[in-house]
Amino acid sequence: MSDIATITSVLERELGASAIIGPGHERLDDYGRDESPLPEFFPPTCAALVESTEQAAAVLRICLERKVPVTPRGAGSGMCGGALPIHGGVVLSTERMTRIKEIDAGDLVAVVEPGVVTGKLQEAAEAQQLFYPPDPASLEFCSIGGNAATNAGGPRAFKYGVTREYILGLEVALMGGEVLRCGRRTAKGVTGYDLVAGFVGTEGTFGVITELTVKLLPLPMAAATVLGVFDGVATAGAAISALLRDGLRPRVLELADRASIDVIRPKSRYRFPDNAGAIVLIEVDGEPEAMATMMEKIGMRCDELGALDILAATEPAERRAVWEARRLISPSLKASYRIKLNEDICVPRGRIVEMLARVDRVAAETGVPCAVFGHAGDGNLHVNLLSNDDPADPAVRKHMWAAAKQLFAHTIELGGTLSGEHGIGLTKRDYVTMEQTERVIEWQHRWKAMWDPSGLLNPGKRLPARRTACNE
Ligand code: MLT
Ligand code: ZN
Repeated sequence: MSDIATITSVLERELGASAIIGPGHERLDDYGRDESPLPEFFPPTCAALVESTEQAAAVLRICLERKVPVTPRGAGSGMCGGALPIHGGVVLSTERMTRIKEIDAGDLVAVVEPGVVTGKLQEAAEAQQLFYPPDPASLEFCSIGGNAATNAGGPRAFKYGVTREYILGLEVALMGGEVLRCGRRTAKGVTGYDLVAGFVGTEGTFGVITELTVKLLPLPMAAATVLGVFDGVATAGAAISALLRDGLRPRVLELADRASIDVIRPKSRYRFPDNAGAIVLIEVDGEPEAMATMMEKIGMRCDELGALDILAATEPAERRAVWEARRLISPSLKASYRIKLNEDICVPRGRIVEMLARVDRVAAETGVPCAVFGHAGDGNLHVNLLSNDDPADPAVRKHMWAAAKQLFAHTIELGGTLSGEHGIGLTKRDYVTMEQTERVIEWQHRWKAMWDPSGLLNPGKRLPARRTACNE
């Protein structure tokens, strides 16, 4: 029997009233929403805004003792419902754990609390000529704990890799209240099994990250951005494939289609060319003297590959404007359409051109328009299925998700995966069976049960649903 009715007062006694957002509080409903495309929201019984590892552990101890579901949450910027308390209970938010404890230029590491906003960590590192490369588009408001929980990517993943590659060590509060420190601070280390890699990307289903030791790099001395303008995604996609075959190593190799460009035009400080049917965004970094040569080489190659126009952004202000505009694509699409299923498929790099053609096929066959942008150099495309029909109409949603399912089927046929960076969470858990075998899913359920035998920690996420304490 769960103590859900009394959990708020128990947590208030343990953590203090100022840490708890309880029933009747005007902000409580905010903890039942995130950036996922779901029409419904899932209000928790209460939200616990912990300020320390001890408080996080106390919440997890109390929730287990009282058999109350608990859902970890970072900044709420997730796009797949991973932080939604779909079975009610407690939301454990790390938004108040915002300390950068240490930036060590000698060891090239930072030690941070999970609520640190990713962009703030980058600024703090850059102030010491250091570099934290992962750059999810939401970096101005997402938090590093959420990035680790989802193994977030970003444009620079093309050269520098995703969040997992930067997490050296973790402190994790486990269901029941045990606090585990694992990993290392060293550049290398192979002692024992890699528990850190095991926690990263598990969307808060194994434990709650309370501290991270992250790897830093020396700050590249210069960077420059080139914009290749193409007549459409077919030529832009072919250009990306050719650039990949050339063996060029820019830090970013992105694509945006006409629908994505059109939606940011009115807001963008950067003026995108009127004739852009698609753009390829390429960014290089390194020694200042090397910039001009690299840009010239890329420009010439884009020209050979059919670019209508090639523009260079070298000044920091101009580059900032390009990136501000790029980061506006997703929010602007969201503001322009009543429904935006922002899928995040990833195909092997050699299949990008075919995948772009398949997206067109899905749009034509289902009548659902798609806007495509994202990290094409990684084969990772944000395919946004759009509609201005009523999001609450079950028939409309059924049709949209049927189109998404077609997209997933094409992706998998080309050897791809459902999600390159946003995660599975709630919105995609029922499609995992399209990609993974029953045995692979079974072993993952066993792995989850090892960390959380109660099934009360972030229930109903990441894997296809099965019977747990929360839904039997
Ligand atoms: C991006 O690359 O802009 C983000 O992953 C956001 C999104 O896809 O909607
Ligand atoms: Zn992205």
